[in-house]
Amino acid sequence: MLIDGHGRRVNYLRVSVTERCNFRCQYCMPEKPFSWVPKENLLSFEELFLFIKAAMDEGVNKIRITGGEPLLREDLDTFIKMIHDHNPDVDLALTTNGYLLPQVAQKLKDAGLKRLNISLDSLKPEVAHKIAQKDVLSQVLKGIDKALEVGLGIKINMVPLKGINDNEIIDLMEYCMDRGIKIRFIEYMENRHANIELRGMHGKEILAKVKEKYTIHALGREGSSPSFNYRIEENGYEFGLIDPHKHDFCETCNRIRLTAEGFLIPCLYFDEAMSIAEHVKKGDVEAASQVLAQVLKDKPKENRWSEEKAEDTNDSSRAFYETGG
Ligand code: GTP
Ligand code: 5AD
Ligand code: SF4
Repeated sequence: MLIDGHGRRVNYLRVSVTERCNFRCQYCMPEKPFSWVPKENLLSFEELFLFIKAAMDEGVNKIRITGGEPLLREDLDTFIKMIHDHNPDVDLALTTNGYLLPQVAQKLKDAGLKRLNISLDSLKPEVAHKIAQKDVLSQVLKGIDKALEVGLGIKINMVPLKGINDNEIIDLMEYCMDRGIKIRFIEYMENRHANIELRGMHGKEILAKVKEKYTIHALGREGSSPSFNYRIEENGYEFGLIDPHKHDFCETCNRIRLTAEGFLIPCLYFDEAMSIAEHVKKGDVEAASQVLAQVLKDKPKENRWSEEKAEDTNDSSRAFYETGG
């Protein structure tokens, strides 16, 4: 079993397979990053799997594939199948912008993927275009339909931004309600890679928008999830609010992240990371496990938001497209 330096059990591994993306969301990477990781620096699926297998054997039972946009990585279904075949009971999920789902949803399902979290920030083509800096909406909606059709579990992530999509909170919630999908509203997390003019909405402001139409009841957190859940009195629909500026979920944090280059990252807002790349390239699982043990020992108690630093230091230099959010 993997236990960190603060006695927390770590059973959730987020694996980024690429930092590249076919969108340029303004809150994530408004311009092309100046240097993509060269392809040869990416770990192969076999190298990633060597580590993942060791982590699963130590009790990791929840794995999420992230990016960048993970569906850009060729033959991702074979990677998913490797993980699924090693332990079919693992909670195997993927976070995506949904654009490529119409073509690949069935293959992902067949490979053993169970769940998808899909970003959907607007139901208006021009607003979705403005946020992603690409005309994406119709393809993403087709992707959601396809994923539902093939029987994948789905959650939707929306990042409400002032003056951009803040008037669509109820519309997006009702879109999800109609399809029996859970929506989670995510507070915008300031970071050095985003468009500096963006202003996010606070959790309270997001809830106020929902309350304009519905009565809501707080339910609480689901296990170690950063999402705080609410129920709508009128119809029983449940939605979530992810408020990364809080750190009350850090107490039960159960996750670590592995980047496509092989860096193990103990916390989203923690720039220090240690590499397992040279070890897995040599097939040395033992040495990679030792790096993991060190990373777990060093995993911080809380994310850096809680340090109440000045605004300008209160953001991460590590991009979300590298760490997979
Ligand atoms: P499930 O609950 O298993 O469906 O997945 P998830 O919420 O862990 O995955 P997802 O990729 O949809 O993540 C949603 C968002 O939650 C992330 O993009 C982050 O904004 C936020 N988040 C996830 N993990 C952390 C964390 O460790 N710290 C902070 N501050 N935010 C996190
Ligand atoms: N703030 C909040 N959420 C973000 N995401 C990406 N960048 C940010 C940010 N700066 C979200 C995406 C995706 C999830 C993995 O992270 O919308 O749904
Ligand atoms: Fe791509 Fe996701 Fe970042 Fe948007 S938020 S640019 S879809 S990695």
